[in-house]
Amino acid sequence: MKIELVCDHICELGEGPVWDARGNKICWVDIVNGEIHEYDVNHRKLKTIPVHQMIGAMALKRNGNYVAALQHGFAFINRQTGEIKMIGDPEAHLSNNRFNDGKCDPAGRFWAGTMPFSEDSPAGSVYCLETDLSIEKKIGGVTVSNGMAWSHDHRTLYYIDSPSFEVVGYSYDVTTGDISGKRLIIAVSKEDGSPDGMTIDNEGMLWVAHWGGWKLTRWNPVTGKKLKEIALPVSQVTSCTFGGDHGEDLYITSAKIHLTAEQLEKQPLAGSLFVIRNCGFAGAACFEFAGA
Ligand code: BGC
Ligand code: CA
Repeated sequence: MKIELVCDHICELGEGPVWDARGNKICWVDIVNGEIHEYDVNHRKLKTIPVHQMIGAMALKRNGNYVAALQHGFAFINRQTGEIKMIGDPEAHLSNNRFNDGKCDPAGRFWAGTMPFSEDSPAGSVYCLETDLSIEKKIGGVTVSNGMAWSHDHRTLYYIDSPSFEVVGYSYDVTTGDISGKRLIIAVSKEDGSPDGMTIDNEGMLWVAHWGGWKLTRWNPVTGKKLKEIALPVSQVTSCTFGGDHGEDLYITSAKIHLTAEQLEKQPLAGSLFVIRNCGFAGAACFEFAGA
């Protein structure tokens, strides 16, 4: 597998890649720099939208704009003007928390989780922005809320709280958005680095990015067995998604935050966005937000 750089931009904390099939763009965030990056694959052009606060994750709306989980709550972001419309902040009272990873579910609700900046106490939660813009708390007691993916039969939510070194599953009701029955799906070994972002491929297998692990892994969620490892030239691998014309290009984000000068010497590409074109696997583009 050939790992290529998408462009030479380096993020502090690159995360949350989303393939925009209409525009042929790969979009991702730099959480701590508060930026959305969009790279036009056909015209090889990078555009950056500043959001003026930290941004944990975003998803596309059906009209092409973004719904996002910003440091101060859920928001809509106009892609052309950069205008930000705040929707609501379920953690206005928790100034030591910020939003981290998030994604839309198959019914077009936007889910995103929070974490304390200190990453050392279960003060975070997972919230769901419903299509009527109400906000519901779904999971409590989370330390570093991270990857999410839904099974193709829409009956399971796969979820990662990084310090648990687990991918867990919840029974998921697509009609109501209710989750129940938490169970272990994958136990990640400490040597692999902590599980971070996640996506699912067309065969229903899970792809997990490993923070501190220099790799991406593919797993069978039914057996809990690892199927594949892809080594990367950076240690802080944060997330991945499929994109490209046939969903066969695998985009991978990374971070350089907190790495020392000495560490960066060994991984000068830390913080880059990578792609493995025609990776031999495929996945669908992320679900879009179905609200107004
Ligand atoms: C967070 C980082 C955190 C890492 C741990 C990332 O998603 O943004 O702050 O250190 O996960 O896995
Ligand atoms: Ca993440």
